[in-house]
Amino acid sequence: MTGRFVRLDETDRPQLAFSIDGHPVNALEGDSLLVAMLTQTGRLRRSEFGDGARAGFCLMGACQDCWVWTETGERLRACTTPVARGLRIIT
Ligand code: FES
Repeated sequence: MTGRFVRLDETDRPQLAFSIDGHPVNALEGDSLLVAMLTQTGRLRRSEFGDGARAGFCLMGACQDCWVWTETGERLRACTTPVARGLRIIT
């Protein structure tokens, strides 16, 4: 996977493991789920309205463009949800 975001600083924070569509990936403690995902991949999800890949827009909880789901069906707003160890995201 190629990330849309490039981490430039704060690279010394502890890593934690989570998964995106079954692929094991790492984030850094303190990342939002949006940052954790977009440093690993180019999109957060496919739009349910058929208008393509989505990667969030406002990054502050207002636009609702960054919803993702867990494997158990929980819906998470990626820009306001801290990433957590063991989180299993489907896009
Ligand atoms: S990016 Fe706008 S609500 Fe998350």
